[in-house]
Amino acid sequence: MLDQLEAALRPPKLEMAPYPAKHILLANGETLVVRPASMDEADVLLEIIDPLKTLDRDFYDIVSARLYAELLGWKRHRVRNEYCLVGVINGELAGIVNGRMFDEHHGISYHTLALKRGLRIGAHLFASKMEHHIEYLGQDEVWIVAESPIGHRRWMIEYPLQQKFSIQHELGGAPSWVLTRETYFKARPRLVTGTRPVPEELLACSHPIRKPDLRTMLVQIGDTLEAKL
Ligand SMILES: CC(C)(COP(=O)(O)OP(=O)(O)OC[C@H]1O[C@@H](n2cnc3c(N)ncnc32)[C@H](O)[C@@H]1OP(=O)(O)O)[C@@H](O)C(=O)NCCC(=O)NCCS
Repeated sequence: MLDQLEAALRPPKLEMAPYPAKHILLANGETLVVRPASMDEADVLLEIIDPLKTLDRDFYDIVSARLYAELLGWKRHRVRNEYCLVGVINGELAGIVNGRMFDEHHGISYHTLALKRGLRIGAHLFASKMEHHIEYLGQDEVWIVAESPIGHRRWMIEYPLQQKFSIQHELGGAPSWVLTRETYFKARPRLVTGTRPVPEELLACSHPIRKPDLRTMLVQIGDTLEAKL
C-alpha cells in the first residue's frame, strides 16, 4: 500500500493500450526487435544512457540528459501516462523512444535516441512511436519538436509534419510540430515497417537488455589524434 503522501504525489493514470512487439530486418542483415520497456528495466536504461549525457556531438548530450530525467520520472511515478519503447539487437540496446499521452486525443513525443548509427534505427523507432500513438493508443495527433538538425530532417521533413504556432510543446522549445492521423497514414507505407508477431525465441533474446559497446560513439572528435593534427 502506498502511504497517503506518496499517493498524493503520483499522477492520475489513463488506460493505455500495450504496444505489440515487432521485428525489423535492418540494411546490414541484423534484426531489430522493437518492444515496450517495462518499468523494472528503467535502471538498466538509465545506466546505459548516463555516459551519453556529456557527449558533445549531434546533440546527444541534451537529448540523453532529458531522456534520462524522463525515464527517472517514469520510474519514480512523477510523469503522467509515459511509455518507453526499446530497439534491441541480439540482446543489446540499439535505441530508445519515449512519449506520453497528454490526454486521450493528444500525444506528446519526447525523445528518440539511436545508440547504433547508420542503420536508420532512430527513424524506425520514431516511426514505431508514431504507430503507437495513432494505431494503438488511438490518438488524433502527436506533438513533436526536434532538438537536432538530424531530428528535424528525419521527422519534420521526411513525414512531413506541419508546424502549429499556437501549440507550445512541453519541452518548451520551438513552436510544436504536429503529426495528424492523415499525415501518419500517408507516410505509413514509406516509413512504418516491421513484422508481427515476434517469434518467441527472438523476443526472449531481447531480455535482459544488455549494454552495447559505446566506446566508438563516446570518442569526442576533439580528443582524436586526427583532430589534434
Ligand atoms: C536523430 C537520430 C535518432 C536519428 O537516428 P537514425 O535514423 O538511426 O540515424 P543516424 O543517427 O544513424 O544517422 C543520421 C545521420 O547521421 C550521419 N551518420 C550516419 N552514420 C553515422 C555514424 N556512424 N556516425 C556519425 N554519423 C553518422 C549521417 O549523416 C546520417 O544521415 P543520413 O542517413 O540521412 O544520410 C540519431 O541521430 C540520434 O540519436 N541523434 C542524437 C539525439 C537526437 O538528435 N535525437 C532526436 C532529437 S529530435
